[in-house]
Amino acid sequence: MEKIGGIRNKLFYYERNIVNKKGGSMCSELAINGGTPVREKLIPINAPYFDQDDYKAVEMAMRSTFVSGDGPECRKFEEKLKKYLNVKYAFFTTSATAALDLAFMVKDFPEGSEVIVPDFTFTSTALAPILNQLKVVLVDVDPLNGNIDVGKIEAKITQKTAAIVPVDYAGNPADMDKINHLAKKYNLYVVHDAAQSIGSEYKGKKTGALADVSCFSFHGTKNLVVGEGGAIVTNHDDLAEKIIIAREKGTDKYSYISNPKKKGYYEYVSKGNSYVQSNILGALAVSQLKKIDFMNRRREDIAKRYMREFSELDGIGLPKVTEGSKTNWHLFYLLVPQNKKEWIIDALKAEGIMANIHYNPLHLNTYYMDLCDFEEDEFPNAMKFYDSLVRIPLYPSLMEKDVNDIVRGVRKVLGSL
Ligand SMILES: Cc1ncc(COP(=O)(O)O)c(C=O)c1O
Repeated sequence: MEKIGGIRNKLFYYERNIVNKKGGSMCSELAINGGTPVREKLIPINAPYFDQDDYKAVEMAMRSTFVSGDGPECRKFEEKLKKYLNVKYAFFTTSATAALDLAFMVKDFPEGSEVIVPDFTFTSTALAPILNQLKVVLVDVDPLNGNIDVGKIEAKITQKTAAIVPVDYAGNPADMDKINHLAKKYNLYVVHDAAQSIGSEYKGKKTGALADVSCFSFHGTKNLVVGEGGAIVTNHDDLAEKIIIAREKGTDKYSYISNPKKKGYYEYVSKGNSYVQSNILGALAVSQLKKIDFMNRRREDIAKRYMREFSELDGIGLPKVTEGSKTNWHLFYLLVPQNKKEWIIDALKAEGIMANIHYNPLHLNTYYMDLCDFEEDEFPNAMKFYDSLVRIPLYPSLMEKDVNDIVRGVRKVLGSL
């Protein structure tokens, strides 16, 4: 019986593929069912883009012997980042998580004040208020792009609300005009978690220039890579003054480094943490920033090809870019039928193409279940997005052949549905 069923299934699959003209790469058996894979060597989901200039910059910084924090290369990077983003202050940090922590550390909101965070994000977005004794209030997201659902924010604002932390999921900017409008109406602080969106634009401005403070990540998986690293940027003088001290363990070492002859020592003036970044990584950041537009353009070219190639696949959703925005294509995802997600990931891997899920909504994690107040069915769109999201490789070091194989593999697998 089983054998007959197996043959029948195979025939059925074959017939469907013959008539389905949309999928491409038809007639070849899926690798997950024993067919020949599109390629033997698995394409990783992500890889940094480094060139000779990056290697040289790191070597030079090491040879300079100034390897500790807040060195000349870090300062150079901060100057260049300020110009790139068109903001008044930029500070290089050890991570976006550190930058987000600083954003709240410098504010002194009353303990238990509430901070609005999208349910669909990485834990660091919520850790920042938590580390500063604030309460996280989760809000559902847009089911088409995972960004905070602006229409659902106002209902969550109370007398205790102090801040909103929008996130640019996949590098696609949150709808900042609407968020800033609400912030103005209720006198809220806006911390933009732009960890994924270096180089993205919203209504003609770069992300980073759209909120009270903004935080970027330069982690190994991001568009600008230093390994582990981030930045906090702002236009506010008072916040900048506090950030300078808080990120250097609550000391005034910044002014000591700027001009050691002036005082000859530094003092402990506040609370803080060790969030300054090494000069070696400062040099790498300068070198990476020089080519960020080139790297983002390469991502865009590949993403556009994916959009073209996959737009005709039945029942598959593609990323929705916020109106008036330009995304940096930090990552590319497909929205697939929910009950097929796991199988599609396995089938793509069998074809030699790494695919994965990205983020499980905060409310599904035990830590946030215990910590936050919410109804079980309060985040239908975060669940919908999460249940259908399959991430595929997108990064500048992908070769043309890799991209061709990804297109072929995705069409082969999704064309078989
Ligand atoms: C939205 C978001 N916020 C914060 C972070 C944390 O970044 P980092 O690893 O630099 O601390 C990430 C990392 O992926 C992220 O995606």
